[in-house]
Amino acid sequence: MMIMEIHVLESPDVLAKRVALSIALLIRNYPGRLICFAAGDTPMGMLRELVSLQQCGACNLNSMYYIALDEWVGLGYSDKGSCSQVLRDNFYDPACIEKNRFRLFDGMAEDIDAECSAMNDWIKIHGGIFLAVLGIGLNGHIGFNEPYAPDEEGCFSIKLDEMTKDISEKYFGKKMQVNTGITIGWRTLLNSENLYVLASGKHKAQIVKKAFTGELSHSIPASLLRRNENLKVVLEKEAASDL
Ligand code: F6R
Repeated sequence: MMIMEIHVLESPDVLAKRVALSIALLIRNYPGRLICFAAGDTPMGMLRELVSLQQCGACNLNSMYYIALDEWVGLGYSDKGSCSQVLRDNFYDPACIEKNRFRLFDGMAEDIDAECSAMNDWIKIHGGIFLAVLGIGLNGHIGFNEPYAPDEEGCFSIKLDEMTKDISEKYFGKKMQVNTGITIGWRTLLNSENLYVLASGKHKAQIVKKAFTGELSHSIPASLLRRNENLKVVLEKEAASDL
């Protein structure tokens, strides 16, 4: 049976605060487990809220382990807009997360397959993903699971969809040659014990409708997450306006 909660909230700020509070509770109750946060614009407010909650003593972010969701192949921390840069500058560094607690994809690795294996090991060592907090792309992707992403377990590299390449400029502030992504596969994300998909903004309304009310389809990888019984879709009201 497919069970999915959809929550619609008044604004991106309210969404950030509510989701951060729920996550802080999970962190208090399940220390030592593995969390996967997406980069991108959507979760940034929530990540800042989590840092604030830690600052006022509501949770200890250093009680958890973390893994990146994805990275642009060829980019690293020194590239503005890379997933590593966004997550380190907005979360790992301000939250003072110890270096041995998080593992990011090295998009500059010479051997991308070995990088995927290392990430698979990190997931395994920590007993699988406890909590994943994801955004959704305008083409329905999650992480870099582009439409018709492989059906395999673990991490892989993948050719980027044209829409993903076009949109990428918003992160980099300029055109960058990005053709390939490295990502945790949707099958592994589907097995997360707790799974959130967040979306804000009118521009997400159509894809949110397709992903969460249409048919389950490999053409919209986010729709496949509905097989997870703990899926929570948390939407700001504009993103929910076509539901
Ligand atoms: C980012 C990621 C992507 C984004 C998605 C939405 O690590 O994995 O799947 O979550 O493209 O991006 P934003 O949040 O910028 O709209």
